[in-house]
Amino acid sequence: MDDPASPGQGRDGELAATIDRAVEILARAQYAVVLTGAGVSKESGIPTFRGEGGLWTVNGEPPMNGFQLFLEDTAGWWRQRLERRRAEEGDPASFARAVDEARPNAAHEALAELERLGVVKHVITQNVDDLHRRAGQHAITEIHGNRHWMRCLDCGARWPASEFPVDENRLPPRCARPGCAGVVKDDTVMFGEPIPDEALARCDAESRLADCFLIVGTSAVVMPAAGFPLLAWQRGAALVEINPEPTPLTGYAEVSCRGAAGAILPELVSAVRTRRSAGA
Ligand code: OAD
Repeated sequence: MDDPASPGQGRDGELAATIDRAVEILARAQYAVVLTGAGVSKESGIPTFRGEGGLWTVNGEPPMNGFQLFLEDTAGWWRQRLERRRAEEGDPASFARAVDEARPNAAHEALAELERLGVVKHVITQNVDDLHRRAGQHAITEIHGNRHWMRCLDCGARWPASEFPVDENRLPPRCARPGCAGVVKDDTVMFGEPIPDEALARCDAESRLADCFLIVGTSAVVMPAAGFPLLAWQRGAALVEINPEPTPLTGYAEVSCRGAAGAILPELVSAVRTRRSAGA
């Protein structure tokens, strides 16, 4: 608790000081890039993976060779996937239901506002939930895919899942592009699956342009995503972290704001907007 007799001291004072520092960095940024993870969607009701209450903390980690298992039996994988999805749709506590029913929260909205202000030029998200786009963010790379889309493994064509009905009697689904017929899977990247080259190239290019890298709600333990802020840092960008917990990137960050993204980001954006409109 802050001591009213000594404003600026204590935990709240410390947080306020880190937010001020983050505002300073963002307000002068010419090209801010953002990396987000599951923590940014937590306040939308979607559980994180790791940490307390995380999907994997509760259920255990999925197999690390998921993509290999998929390739070994694509039809069998799809059969199980359709069964699982039906079960999830009937289970109000399932992850799939949480994602389907989620709406963007104040953190997603604040990041979209930073794009409108011309501060944020690109968001690299590890999330597959589509919430950044639904909040109005335009420049996004979904490095782990989007769960509402499907993708051909041969030609890379993508379709909204709603426009790609899967025939249970003809599994696996095949690419609809003339002359392709490659196997189609969820756009979500599995363990062991290569990330599409185009997404990697875009993340690399954006990171090289960044003079500021905002890292929000990620444990920063999964590569290559966690490597992009470091690439920018090596080229002189200032890293700003927003996370209630420290991460492996904390030691590289100019400042770490310890708290929930949905509380910190709107405050930060409002201060950046004021500074920018005052020409400060
Ligand atoms: P994690 O579950 O590993 O980490 C979530 C992070 O969010 C933690 O560092 C939390 O401290 C932080 N956090 C929790 N609540 C928060 C809040 N309200 N505001 C801000 N931060 C908060 O999730 P990711 O880092 O996204 O990939 O995990 C990366 C990848 O691991 C995922 O994309 C997934 C998994 O492998 C695939 O499935 C391909």
